[in-house]
Amino acid sequence: MPNESFKKLYVDELKDLYSAENQLVKALPKMAKAASSEDLREGFEEHLQQTKGQVQRLETIFQSLNQSPKGKKCVAMEGLVKEGSEVVQEDLEDAVLDAALIGAAQRVEHYEIAAYGTVCEFARILGETEHASLLQETLDEEKRTDEKLTKLAKEINAQANETQSPKEQDEAKAGRKTKRAA
Ligand SMILES: [Fe+2]
Repeated sequence: MPNESFKKLYVDELKDLYSAENQLVKALPKMAKAASSEDLREGFEEHLQQTKGQVQRLETIFQSLNQSPKGKKCVAMEGLVKEGSEVVQEDLEDAVLDAALIGAAQRVEHYEIAAYGTVCEFARILGETEHASLLQETLDEEKRTDEKLTKLAKEINAQANETQSPKEQDEAKAGRKTKRAA
């Protein structure tokens, strides 16, 4: 017989993830809209579809548990999403904003990788093999998303570093004018 409080912990952590994923379903379209790089935007849109599938996997698990997935708010995801939206509100050059968006998205992925890794092991110990394989699928998706973001970051961070700020652009223009006048 599984320990009741351990089983409850497992269900609570699943509820937390259900809340986290639903918050992401709302946040990802905003992140996609804010992205300048087409690859990054497509990456966010693709991950939105994946995330909807991840919500469904959790619903399948809750159906088999005969429980509602609702009733918990993932405050960690709330904080991560809030930090991501603060970045969007800042007045940044395109590539710099993209670099910041990737940073925010990777924080989210790492949180999810940790959380899914935990519940996946809980499911195995509890003998919930069906759950474990569903959770493992999501865990693998989150890891692949994180790897994709790392690849994109290499390119975008380099662009961000080469981007001239509006002030630098003005100075460059002014410099050209002085040269012409001389
Ligand atoms: Fe997810």
